[in-house]
Amino acid sequence: MTANIINGKEIANKLLEKTKEEIIKRQKGKIRPPCLAVILIGNDPASSIYVQKKKQACKNIGIKSITHNLKEETSQEVVIELINSLNQDKEIDGILVQSPLPKHIDESIVIKTINPNKDVDGFHPINIGLLAIKTPKLRPCTPFGVIKLLDAQGIKLAGLDAVVIGASSHVGRPMTLELLLAGCTVTSCHSRTQNIERKVAQGDLIITAIGKPNIIKGTWIKKGAIVIDIGITRVGNKLIGDVEYDIAKYRAAYITPVPGGVGPMTVATLMENTLTAQKLSKRGFH
Ligand code: GUN
Repeated sequence: MTANIINGKEIANKLLEKTKEEIIKRQKGKIRPPCLAVILIGNDPASSIYVQKKKQACKNIGIKSITHNLKEETSQEVVIELINSLNQDKEIDGILVQSPLPKHIDESIVIKTINPNKDVDGFHPINIGLLAIKTPKLRPCTPFGVIKLLDAQGIKLAGLDAVVIGASSHVGRPMTLELLLAGCTVTSCHSRTQNIERKVAQGDLIITAIGKPNIIKGTWIKKGAIVIDIGITRVGNKLIGDVEYDIAKYRAAYITPVPGGVGPMTVATLMENTLTAQKLSKRGFH
């Protein structure tokens, strides 16, 4: 058996198109386009590429974006001041601070400064809390994107035994919360978990977010399982996922490729979140 390869790019493009059409419709009703403010601190090459992709997606679908490129040595106080002024600005609907941040800046303080109604990354404790109590508002883009990907593929989640590998604040943990909300029974694996192989082997749905190439062996996957690989690592000039894809694809029923699986969904969900932020706050009416 060979798995169905989930085409994340195609599904993401459909979501982008839907968001674009909604923005056009709202403009006809005299609502200005949503506006996303992006803060990029320092010169991390990967972060610059991610920010570029997000800005391009904004441009493609009619979202205005404003980037604040700050020097690596910018103080935390200056970053907080900038966020406070963006919080006040009625022309700004979404605020995104690209991570990782320089070591002298405390990410949790920065995230807590963002107005939760403009927190398009969904990282603010209020937004994580709302997801945890089953009343989500702005949801972390990658986990929410995975749910949308599975839904677009017609996969029903309620009752599945899901295994999430990786428990980071931005991806693994909110992924676990999303799956609980969707009715899965979830095993959350992390760096202290014993015998990950045995846990993976029992999963109907495996979602990995570790960032170590090929660490999840293809032979661990239960026959007929669904495999979603969020990990992405550059090895030489190739991008490699967490799952040993060439073996796993002969056991899984569905699998995401790397690249072209989850990645495009993260950006498309960010665009949708920016429109959602504008709608929630009722900003943008002329
Ligand atoms: N760095 C890597 N991924 C992300 C993301 O989704 N949001 C932000 N703000 N930074 C990131």
